[in-house]
Amino acid sequence: PAQLVEGAELLFVAEAPGSNEAKDGVPLIGKAGKFFDHLLGTIGINRAEVSVSNTVKCRISTSNDTPKPEHVALCAPLWLEQELVLQQPKVVVAMGAVSAHYLLGEKFRSLLMEEIHGLPFYPDETGRPFIVFATYHPAAGFHDSTKMGAVYDDFRDLRLLLDGQLARPRDEYPTPSYEEILPSLRDPA
Ligand code: URA
Repeated sequence: PAQLVEGAELLFVAEAPGSNEAKDGVPLIGKAGKFFDHLLGTIGINRAEVSVSNTVKCRISTSNDTPKPEHVALCAPLWLEQELVLQQPKVVVAMGAVSAHYLLGEKFRSLLMEEIHGLPFYPDETGRPFIVFATYHPAAGFHDSTKMGAVYDDFRDLRLLLDGQLARPRDEYPTPSYEEILPSLRDPA
């Protein structure tokens, strides 16, 4: 399921529906979704203003297993890619590794969320006609409480990006591998 808002410039893409989402046909309405709504609120965004989708549209198992690359490869071209064409977003927020690795493409597949979260990727780096901003999945802090601060920080940095004030990706994150892969990383300012 996806929830597309006509004219929305921001599209959030999570992983795959859980049981609530599959039952109601609406993305991010369960526990992770409620927390997502809260995170949006911390940066002054109302859910009704933005589009929300998932990389994979059906449940892989009854236990919320992470979709495998072959699931993503089958599903995303059929649905998510069509949504991107319809929506023409300016910024796509890739929440979690499944979404980020798919949206960023092959060149970035070996990078960990630890390396790329909180960072914007520009069209000349990805070949996509929008900025991809990578964040942890909203549920990342449920599984690993040490990530909770970073989940909030990513949304704070998204706010800065939207306001044109993300001067420079956080210094602690560009690792050697990141610098190697992204020599074109530049200050948006
Ligand atoms: N987690 C996701 O990634 N997507 C949903 O829709 C619900 C939970």
